[in-house]
Amino acid sequence: MLERVETIISQLVDEVGYVRSNEFYAKLAGGKRLRARLILAIAPNEPEAPRLGAIVELIHAASLLHDDVIDESTLRRGVPSINATHGSKMAIMMGDILYSKAFSALTGFDSKIARSIAESVTNLSVGEMMDVELAEAFNTDRQRYEKMLYLKTATLIEACAYSAALLAGKNGDAHALYGKNLGLAFQIVDDILDITADEATLGKPSLNDFSEGKTTLPYIDLYEALPSQDRQLLISYHGKILNDEQKKWIRTKMDEFEIISASYAYARRVCDEALDAIGEDPSLRAIIETVIQRSH
Ligand code: FPP
Ligand code: MG
Repeated sequence: MLERVETIISQLVDEVGYVRSNEFYAKLAGGKRLRARLILAIAPNEPEAPRLGAIVELIHAASLLHDDVIDESTLRRGVPSINATHGSKMAIMMGDILYSKAFSALTGFDSKIARSIAESVTNLSVGEMMDVELAEAFNTDRQRYEKMLYLKTATLIEACAYSAALLAGKNGDAHALYGKNLGLAFQIVDDILDITADEATLGKPSLNDFSEGKTTLPYIDLYEALPSQDRQLLISYHGKILNDEQKKWIRTKMDEFEIISASYAYARRVCDEALDAIGEDPSLRAIIETVIQRSH
């Protein structure tokens, strides 16, 4: 089924009718296809599910193209980003092509589905804007961070789960709640891996979030745990490229206050909420496990 998603993605990119868009699309590493997998898991027997999966993956790819421009990231999934190899103008326009193409294809779906996906992309963009604002200074406001997290990452996954449930005649609200919590857990694990995983696994520098100004949950928790002198040191590292010694200090303090295990425990609680929303469903349970146990 996932091959069907890939075939439809290629068809949609071909339909653009401009060779450079094929060229650029070929340069993007596909990724985990979490969103398409989720749609297929909820609506395995629906003929339109792979097409919806392809649409959502194009939107996601577009958002990452723009995100790499915004974050000035030169690596994406271990390969040079389009903004790094061809410049920001090309990356932005390629993102525009992909998401407008996805929206054209979305018009073929029931209006409830089309609206849900479209509204989530507005939320995604608001979340990204909040993320940029939050990165301007060291943020200690957990609630603001969590709101941003929901908008930037969970909202599209929530809309995928809701839409797939509607396609399959299942409970939309229950699946939306599952998708929302899956998305939150995904991003919390992402925040953790940025600190714990090595650069080869991550495909980008480690502790990169903090260098980009992002005070993710482990940093907010660490700030709360630290005595005041160390808090000032932590704040002084915010938004800077860190050397090995500085990275080591952060990791040692995270160990000392058991921040990472607390973040995992939080992600696990969020996953339990996701599972509670839908009852027993082995394939949706398996998706939760891949998210919480992933290493990159
Ligand atoms: C990655 O965050 C970014 C997102 C999940 C969403 C980005 C959304 C936009 C740019 C809005 C525009 C949307 C469209 C469809 C054009 P991150 O920087 O925390 O993660 P990373 O480490 O993977 O870069
Ligand atoms: Mg980014």
